[in-house]
Amino acid sequence: MSTQPTADKSHVYISELASHVGQEVTLRGWLYNLRSSGKLLFPQLRDGTGLVQCVVFKKNVPEELFDALKGLGQESALVVRGSVRADERAPGGFEIDVTQAEVVQSVEGYPITPKEHGTEFLMDHRHLWLRSRRQHAILKVRHTVVRAVRDFLDTDGFTLCDTPILTPAACEGTTTLFELDYFGEEKAYLSQSGQLYNEATAAAFGKVYCFGPTFRAERSKTRRHLTEFWMVEPEMAYATLDDVMNLAERFLSAIAARVLDERQEELKILERDTEKLERIVPPFPRVHYDDAVKMLHDAHAKGELENRFEWGGDFGAPDETYISKQFDKPVMVHRYPAAVKAFYMARDPERDDLALGVDVLASEGYGEVIGGGERATSLEFLEEQLRIHELPREAFEWYLDLRRYGSVPHAGFGMGIERCVTWMCGIEHVRETIPFPRMLYRLRP
Ligand code: 4AD
Ligand code: MG
Repeated sequence: MSTQPTADKSHVYISELASHVGQEVTLRGWLYNLRSSGKLLFPQLRDGTGLVQCVVFKKNVPEELFDALKGLGQESALVVRGSVRADERAPGGFEIDVTQAEVVQSVEGYPITPKEHGTEFLMDHRHLWLRSRRQHAILKVRHTVVRAVRDFLDTDGFTLCDTPILTPAACEGTTTLFELDYFGEEKAYLSQSGQLYNEATAAAFGKVYCFGPTFRAERSKTRRHLTEFWMVEPEMAYATLDDVMNLAERFLSAIAARVLDERQEELKILERDTEKLERIVPPFPRVHYDDAVKMLHDAHAKGELENRFEWGGDFGAPDETYISKQFDKPVMVHRYPAAVKAFYMARDPERDDLALGVDVLASEGYGEVIGGGERATSLEFLEEQLRIHELPREAFEWYLDLRRYGSVPHAGFGMGIERCVTWMCGIEHVRETIPFPRMLYRLRP
């Protein structure tokens, strides 16, 4: 059709066009959209790094090439050569005056068209949906969140210590365990949290974190729950609940600042109100569970909340939303009733019925993004908790060793990456923040 542009080593990415204005370049990508008007074609090309409008003049290219380009369907694979022109009106700021092109694959009938599709249809075509602008923007924000998380912890003196995914016991209660058969010998479970192992590595390294896939057999279909999600969990030896709250506040602020710094373009595509993100700066309000309950009672009395919350329970989504809407920043609710929290939580020395735990509720009603707290240090207390929670002592013997040999106050938290990205992007549902979401009723693609 024309000389082979694929063999041309001078190709550039769309994101690099600014430094090639006035030059001839080769771009390799896929057709995003095509408009034509008589002697002109306007193919929009995407290459993963951006989107650029190309202009094809009939008189500038061979006739058969013009005709071939004219008939191309969305997502046809295409290599074009042309000169880069700066144009303020063009999306992205540049246009390409095409002189040559090669159709790598001509495509017809791409299933996702610019018209509206239902969510189930899009989820079934997730492997293709990822190419859409909005999905692309969300996953770029995810990438930045992950880098911000790692950079923050790495420069703050934390050592990455990966924890196992196959485990012999539950960390966060037995109701959400994925169980599998381990060589016919015993049962294994997919990890619900790396925390217990973090407690071991924290005693070896001081400040540690783990960061990996985490599994919860959540039977509820909500916009905040995945069955497989990514959790980052820092843990610190010789640390208390207050240390954890201080860390969480600095951590979330650093993530928001990084997203604002690196992802303006994506946030614009997502129509994110960036002022809301700019407010994520220390200090975050800290609210005792008792006071949070009082707020909910007042709200109910004023008719702002339908159900009257009972002291002693865990907050439901409407409760969390109500509490967080009272502030324009994330809010840290601390000292929950021990009865609704995990077995490993330390007790408040002043109130034995309260656990030294904290949930950080994101702003704008995005709900819990971080859960954590101080861990119990006493061997006898934990032995008793294992009995009360009916957990198999044998599988926790190693964990009890941590209380036998050099037990010190220590604390940490876990943050779900997808919840954080949902909030940063200002979108409805966690399912769009991971390339291939796993949920109740969704294992494919
Ligand atoms: O509050 P969680 O259950 O806390 C723990 O697992 C602790 N062991 C962490 C620690 O202290 N090291 O979970 C922590 C966070 C939640 O705040 C939420 O952001 C996320 O993990 N998360 C989920 N995200 C998506 N889907 C789910 N099903 C989630 N469950 C928890
Ligand atoms: Mg929690």
